[in-house]
Amino acid sequence: MFDYFDLSRPEVDLDGLADEDIAIDVRDLSLKFGSKLALKDIRMRIPKRQITSVIGPSGCGKSTLLGCFNRLNDLTPGCEVQGEVYINERNIYHRKEDVAALRSRVGMVFQRPNPFPMSIYENLVYGLKIQGIRDRRTLDNAAEQALRDVALWKEVRDRLFDSALTLSGGQQQRLVIARAIALQPDILLLDEPTSALDPISTLTIEELITQLKEKYTVLIVTHNMQQAARVSDFTAFLHQGSLIEYSDTNRLFTRPKQQQTEEYITGRYG
Ligand SMILES: Nc1ncnc2c1ncn2[C@@H]1O[C@H](COP(=O)(O)OP(=O)(O)OP(=O)(O)O)[C@@H](O)[C@H]1O
Ligand SMILES: [Mg+2]
Repeated sequence: MFDYFDLSRPEVDLDGLADEDIAIDVRDLSLKFGSKLALKDIRMRIPKRQITSVIGPSGCGKSTLLGCFNRLNDLTPGCEVQGEVYINERNIYHRKEDVAALRSRVGMVFQRPNPFPMSIYENLVYGLKIQGIRDRRTLDNAAEQALRDVALWKEVRDRLFDSALTLSGGQQQRLVIARAIALQPDILLLDEPTSALDPISTLTIEELITQLKEKYTVLIVTHNMQQAARVSDFTAFLHQGSLIEYSDTNRLFTRPKQQQTEEYITGRYG
């Protein structure tokens, strides 16, 4: 069933990783929307410069969990967070955390490509300009590098000042990833980044994601288990707000420890 991933790769034991290999340390995180408990006591250490996928049935809390890593849920009235999330040895839920600075270190990309209605170039430099960077050469270089990182440079170098909305869906999604990368984040959060794309664009983005881990810690939510198996080093399975199983991707898909995981990955989940 999962014939894409590399079973010759040695499995990694998450418990064996040193603290300096960890990008995000989630400690007993719970989250409520009003009276609804959407995340329950999540404990999870997410490795640096690796790809971690989050899978699970609709409504299990995948997007909510991802949103905790750049404090997106804070915007929701009635949202209450307990526990701690450490990024770079700081609890991002500390009351003194600078949320704007956090969001430039932890970039997020959503299901539907959402370029701003402005030129390709302006999309890329938007965040840098907000940070006060005005030097034209710095902005140009950042835009070019970000486009090269997402393999879009050759396709758009001659039309940088066209509207971003003239790009195809797959190009728009790569542009949005480039826009996040231009801020040189440590972490990229991708919430179902290919579910609105055709199969060819999906493969392009998957290839891109596997290359991004050279520079970034990547978290990806996906409904597509083949995709999780293809691209990720580690996989977390969530069910009704609880982290049921979290391990090396090969292990989770070939030798799950929990019955619920096995039922879900074999499609017997009811
Ligand atoms: N703003 C909100 N207010 C109230 N409840 C919410 C809010 N956002 C999410 N929820 C609830 O929290 C739970 C988790 O939602 P979440 O969006 O994280 O699920 P998901 O796993 O991403 O689902 P899907 O696969 O459908 O995207 C769901 O029961 C959802 O209804
Ligand atoms: Mg979701």
